[in-house]
Amino acid sequence: MSVAVQIVPTPEDLASTAANIFASQIQEYPDSVLGLATGSTPVDTYARLADLYENGLSFEDVTTFNLDEYVGLRQGDPQSYHSFMTTHLFDQVDLDPSRTHMPDGDSEDLDEACEEYERLLQDAGGIDLQLLGIGSNGHIAFNEPGCAEDSLTRVVDLAPETVAANSRFFDSEDDVPGQAITAGIATILSADKILLLAYGENKAEAVCQALAGEITSDCPASFLQKHPDCTFLLDAKAAELLTEQ
Ligand code: GLP
Repeated sequence: MSVAVQIVPTPEDLASTAANIFASQIQEYPDSVLGLATGSTPVDTYARLADLYENGLSFEDVTTFNLDEYVGLRQGDPQSYHSFMTTHLFDQVDLDPSRTHMPDGDSEDLDEACEEYERLLQDAGGIDLQLLGIGSNGHIAFNEPGCAEDSLTRVVDLAPETVAANSRFFDSEDDVPGQAITAGIATILSADKILLLAYGENKAEAVCQALAGEITSDCPASFLQKHPDCTFLLDAKAAELLTEQ
């Protein structure tokens, strides 16, 4: 089993290639269950999907599950991943709101919210195509270094470097929630197909560790080497340490 790698020249190429992969999935299986990600990386992919919607691609029978959500932010909080998805995708296409799912980071019973999320995923038949980004420390979703391979959806503490990286979306680092609900490594690996996107030189080291390093929780994305149908779609800068090998 090995991860497929596709390298495209620029982040713009990355977004259009990723959007086309998702569009093909939806055209072939209009009732697909898609796993979605947040962060800067997929923003342009969602913009390209919105363009494709304007040109006739319908999402009306698609179901979506997002990977993660901060703990303690209301759904409508501008920094919540719920707001992010509403802005960048849900309001841009004809997705049925009752079929879009996000972990409830504002639940009074977070553990129950995690179990409920796993149940909903199973009831939907699992993810057909999962979109992922990667943190510069190798995290996927909010599975930070040290996470367990058999982990399911759960509450996690964010690594200091993740809080620092994500503080660019908040007024200050102190405003970044210290915890999140995240799909686990086992949750992610249960998807039928996985597409990980990365661009820019600050992802090159993590990408190299994930693809060419040993499989270890020190680099959570390295667990993807165990998946039978995973592709890393990279721009030239994110791939630069691979091509040097
Ligand atoms: C965030 C998210 C991840 C995302 C990663 C990279 O913390 N939880 O799902 O892949 O960090 O983010 P970016 O795409 O902004 O570099």
